[in-house]
Amino acid sequence: MMLGNFVFSNPTKLYFGEDSLNYLHEELLKYGKNVQLVYGGGSIKKNGIYDKVIDILKANGKAIFEDGGVMPNPTVEKLYEGVRIARENQVDFILAVGGGSCCDYAKAVSISVNCEEDPWEKYYLNFEDVDMDTKIIPVGCVLTMVGTGSEMNGGAVITNHESKLKIGHVFGERVFPKFAVLNPAFTYSLPKYQMTAGFYDIMNHICEQYFSGGDDNTSDYLMEGLMRSLIHSSRIAVKDPENYEARSNIMWTATWALNTLVAMGKSTDWMVHMLGQAVGAHTDATHGMTLSAVSLPYYRHIMPYGLAKFKRFAEYVWNIEPEGKSDKEIAEEGLRAMEAWMNEIGVAMNIRELGVTEDMLENLVKSTLVMEGGYKVLTQEEILEIFKESLK
Ligand code: NZQ
Ligand code: ZN
Repeated sequence: MMLGNFVFSNPTKLYFGEDSLNYLHEELLKYGKNVQLVYGGGSIKKNGIYDKVIDILKANGKAIFEDGGVMPNPTVEKLYEGVRIARENQVDFILAVGGGSCCDYAKAVSISVNCEEDPWEKYYLNFEDVDMDTKIIPVGCVLTMVGTGSEMNGGAVITNHESKLKIGHVFGERVFPKFAVLNPAFTYSLPKYQMTAGFYDIMNHICEQYFSGGDDNTSDYLMEGLMRSLIHSSRIAVKDPENYEARSNIMWTATWALNTLVAMGKSTDWMVHMLGQAVGAHTDATHGMTLSAVSLPYYRHIMPYGLAKFKRFAEYVWNIEPEGKSDKEIAEEGLRAMEAWMNEIGVAMNIRELGVTEDMLENLVKSTLVMEGGYKVLTQEEILEIFKESLK
């Protein structure tokens, strides 16, 4: 079947480029006086973005309610704190300045402020949607870390350390940020570890949507183009992090990798994210690295079930020459090329380096949600096997 039935709408307005923060002025005119300013552990104070944003908020006469300290992989406790800040100050607008963690967190707060139930239970454990009559506080993002695509989607991932669950809920368009400011230069100050984790996150978002189905689908061609651009630019950026051309292409690729477009007409997999999120729930490791550490064992495991697509991936994304080789050989060569690229950019290649030990594996399996859209629905035994392989 080519392209099933779908609805596509993405309401997030993007301001892209070196001057993009100036547009914050005109966006702020649309919202009330009380602004909740969401940010992380302080990087924005060191690189000067905080001062720039504060100046613009003040110039527009806003009352600023600071909500800093959003940790990577935001927790349910922090979510409750953010809801309290929003309620106590009757905030009209939430501005997230940071990476995916700040954007996700801002969205989670935005839908919880006027929700009488416990948001963790409702939105994450029970996977319920936001009630139609719940007023959602509008969110805007100034992005400083590239990878998640959170700036233009409805995803909001929250971690509960007590129950060892890291759950992502992808909400509908009411929850998307109203706008996002994307200035590639704002990402220059990222430590290399975070930068490359973001590169792998982008790659995997595309793979999660690419490795499904056997039909002829425009989305797959779009994804091949995005992957080629990412591979090319990431090789430049690891050597020359302030290469604007490379960093801007990567920023743009990240947004399109997960703003719902390339999922249209696809069933999509998302199993690497489920394995990675289980690792994250137990170790609090950096999101992109949890994905890189489990990817190759996972893809080598499912390759036989989706061989034609893995062959296509090898040829069109990694330029593997097919002559004289079996489909399996071509597909394997493609994964080896991806592995070489992963080593070249320097991402985590096993879960041991993220803090996982043998005795944790059974519990990792318990924390792994099983998805059904890919080439193989994994059994518990297979998940354990993949985690074992990922330890090596
Ligand atoms: O907290 P600060 O001090 O700001 O430091 C952050 C943080 O330590 C730092 N950083 C960000 N921008 C910087 C910077 N340091 C220097 N200069 C800058 N310009 O980078 C660290 C990581 O930031 P974080 O926001 O945690 O990273 P990321 O953007 O990867 O977000 C990760 C979260 O997003 C979720 C992940 O699970 C994780 O919780 N995801 C959200 C998705 C979505 N909404 O669709 C999809 C993804 O698959 C992902 O699951
Ligand atoms: Zn991701």
